[in-house]
Amino acid sequence: MVDLGTKIASLKLKNPTILASGLMDEDAGSMKRIINCGAGAVVTKSIGLKSRGGYANPTIVELEYGILNAMGLPNPGINEFGEEIKKLKRLNAPIIGSVFGSNSKEFVELGKKMQSYGANALELNMSCPHAKGYGLEIGSDPRLVKEITSKVKESVEIPVFVKLSSNIANLGEIAKAAEKGNADGIVAINTIKAMKIDIELRIPVLANKIGGYSGKAIKPIGVRCVYEIAENVDIPIIGVGGVTTGEDALEYIMAGASAVQIGTAIYYRELDVFKKVCKEMENWMNEHSVKKLSELIGAAHL
Ligand code: DHB
Repeated sequence: MVDLGTKIASLKLKNPTILASGLMDEDAGSMKRIINCGAGAVVTKSIGLKSRGGYANPTIVELEYGILNAMGLPNPGINEFGEEIKKLKRLNAPIIGSVFGSNSKEFVELGKKMQSYGANALELNMSCPHAKGYGLEIGSDPRLVKEITSKVKESVEIPVFVKLSSNIANLGEIAKAAEKGNADGIVAINTIKAMKIDIELRIPVLANKIGGYSGKAIKPIGVRCVYEIAENVDIPIIGVGGVTTGEDALEYIMAGASAVQIGTAIYYRELDVFKKVCKEMENWMNEHSVKKLSELIGAAHL
């Protein structure tokens, strides 16, 4: 028997697979289903202060090597969403509340509310690639990243993770800024800014024109980012981007991640992708006589 258990700050997970923010996470029922399919934890859809309808359709298109989407942060607002989190109590997997705001005051209010509803940790979205005034616009400024992280940390007791983007040149500096703001962990990466043009219509396919690209094609970029972040900070990292198989997960773990998030792979391998990825990790570990996942974290750093 191998031990897939992992720890991210004070958060204990029975296995390192976490549902990534943005799919199957808008209500308690779908998050429960994902936990029953083996996920070690789930992240909620990113929630803001007020309800938002999101962008007009088309918001999503399947491409040759992955999926492109620009939903526009649709969500019911934090007060409404509270009801869903409350229904998730007494589950045997932690709930990580994802929040987005345009300044530290908004992030603090959202974080406090998520905590009061029973979320076990927070994920601060500083990396949405296309929402004006949110996400990446904040996550590319080290001063803002540090300020928002430290203000949220002063206001809540649950662990605070900061989700960063690969769409920046100074990733190491930004990760350090989150660490200086006392983040309990870094999540990397978000979707990558991309575009699809319909050559017959001669227009971009997405109504928002620009979207975020996800799936297997972005995995090498995610692995590089996790590796780079691991060389710059001493806090735990959660790897995300293209994880589809156990081997993909192990790559992120060896780059320095303590856990991985899975999103787009649900589309390709169905809901029990979490169980499948765990089984594949276990098989590899058995074949290589590795008893504990923790032995592999950061193994690729010389
Ligand atoms: C959306 C996309 C993201 O990549 C993200 O981090 C948050 C929200 C969206 O389009 O809704």
